[in-house]
Amino acid sequence: MKNAVLATMAGDAQYGLIENGALGIVNGKIDWVGTGATAPERLTTESAVVDCNGMLITPGLIDCHTHLVHAGDRAAEFERRLQGAGYEEIARSGGGILSTVNATRAASIDQLIEQSAPRLDRLMCEGVTTVEIKSGYGLDTDNEIKILQAANALAQSAGVRLQKTFLGAHALPPEYAGRKDQYIHLVCSRMLPAAVRAGVVDAVDAFAAGIAFSLEQVRRVFAAARQHNLPIKLHAEQLGHLGGAKLAAEMGALSVDHLEYLQPEEVGVLATAGTIAVLLPGAFYFLQETKLPPVHALRQYQVPIAIASDCNPGSSPLTSLLLAMNMACTLFALTPSEALQGVTINAAKALGLDQRIGSLEVGKEADLVLWNTANPAALSYNLGLNPCQGVMIGGQWQSRGKINYPENCNETQPNR
Ligand code: NIG
Ligand code: FE
Repeated sequence: MKNAVLATMAGDAQYGLIENGALGIVNGKIDWVGTGATAPERLTTESAVVDCNGMLITPGLIDCHTHLVHAGDRAAEFERRLQGAGYEEIARSGGGILSTVNATRAASIDQLIEQSAPRLDRLMCEGVTTVEIKSGYGLDTDNEIKILQAANALAQSAGVRLQKTFLGAHALPPEYAGRKDQYIHLVCSRMLPAAVRAGVVDAVDAFAAGIAFSLEQVRRVFAAARQHNLPIKLHAEQLGHLGGAKLAAEMGALSVDHLEYLQPEEVGVLATAGTIAVLLPGAFYFLQETKLPPVHALRQYQVPIAIASDCNPGSSPLTSLLLAMNMACTLFALTPSEALQGVTINAAKALGLDQRIGSLEVGKEADLVLWNTANPAALSYNLGLNPCQGVMIGGQWQSRGKINYPENCNETQPNR
């Protein structure tokens, strides 16, 4: 590809920007990146080369935190909240996450796939090439596995890269009411091992909160994850401060997510551990939260910040990663450059995949997006406009929605 503005998201320049850039792809991987002037002849002259006409190319976007496989919706709960009921209050009265658990348990795997497919489709229309999907609305062995198998089937038919996260410790199922420790025992001794045997777990997550699980219970889940050699993540400091982010970082977590109530003096622990801070502005917005995550301290300690949709029916029914980027800027005061890092290289780090994806660098997967703009800040700037012109995953152009491909490019575009 030639004549592109490349936001490589690598190197020291802002966006890793290369004006008038060229990019070579061989066998689904990037084999050359640089300026057109220095490109080998095959990248600028051969007939299969795509002329990008000065348009922007970024790495494929990565949504590193979603709960997009679930059944039903919580529109009625939204209505209740706007009449004054609180999110935690609804959860404690048996609604909230548990109402989605009921709907998800009742759905067959085919119904689950059918209901979840439009959400994945919306993300992909905006350039998402890798998505993380969590379980957590099954809360028993069979239903947790069903969710992750549905995720597998969805991702396979959509052609998107997928990371599957086991979130058995998301909420206490009704049949264990008053017996949290026993449920955690079930999670560690039966549910997680069965999900691992079923081959559907890439990482383990938990929800540390008053309405969910204590630090001690989370510690037990992480110890079980360690026995299976699985990386850990944590929903932490979302509704109040509990110390979960610090615990997770000390136990070597890949990421800690939400973090509105993370205290600035705890940020150093994340930096030391190399744990990524995943901010979820959709949930902040939708729950009308006012406590801001400690962005200044995260920058000071150079903790990589990732941004994700948190797509879920209760706290963030959001299927636009571009809107999440915009919200990260307007609500959390990230710069558009930090927002794009947040959905590319830093999101890759939050999934432990930064050696393979997240930037336009030689040797990485040829996952990229062509945008109808020359300015990478435009991706965070627009509210609702989708400038995506084409998506490539592993060297293959995707056909999806109403995306217009460049004139001299078709779906089976050769690998160059
Ligand atoms: O990321 N914090 C916990 N889990 C989800 C919300 C789940 C729900 O309300 O259904 C979240 O915000
Ligand atoms: Fe979440």
